[in-house]
Amino acid sequence: MFGCIACHSQEGTDMAHVGPTWKGLSGNGRDFFTKDKKKGHALADAAYLREAILDPSAKIVTGYERGEYAMPSYAGALNASQVESLILFIQALK
Ligand code: HEC
Repeated sequence: MFGCIACHSQEGTDMAHVGPTWKGLSGNGRDFFTKDKKKGHALADAAYLREAILDPSAKIVTGYERGEYAMPSYAGALNASQVESLILFIQALK
């Protein structure tokens, strides 16, 4: 409904998608670059997923820092329950 699947796949393929797949994302360790280009590592828990949706440029997943298509922020575009639904959906894609 919000165009996420233009860039993300649910079944592990990255082909023709411009963002990381959601399959197996939740609960896994993620490497990323922060806004000031520092390397970081975090567990993809609910807080990580929430930030990824609302403030995508806060942590850029390693390998996507030179991506042609940056993820747009969905802050203001999604209400709180829509964000929670997306987090639950991604968490279900183990
Ligand atoms: C224009 C393409 C695009 C759209 C549309 C898009 N994303 Fe993204 N998304 C990206 C890219 C590129 C990244 C990796 C760079 C980054 O971390 O910001 C990303 C990263 C993420 C991550 C972190 C992934 C990881 O591997 O750690 C989550 C979660 C996410 N997006 C959720 C969403 C949701 C939910 C939507 C729809 C509401 C959405 N995205 C829409 C391109 C997109």
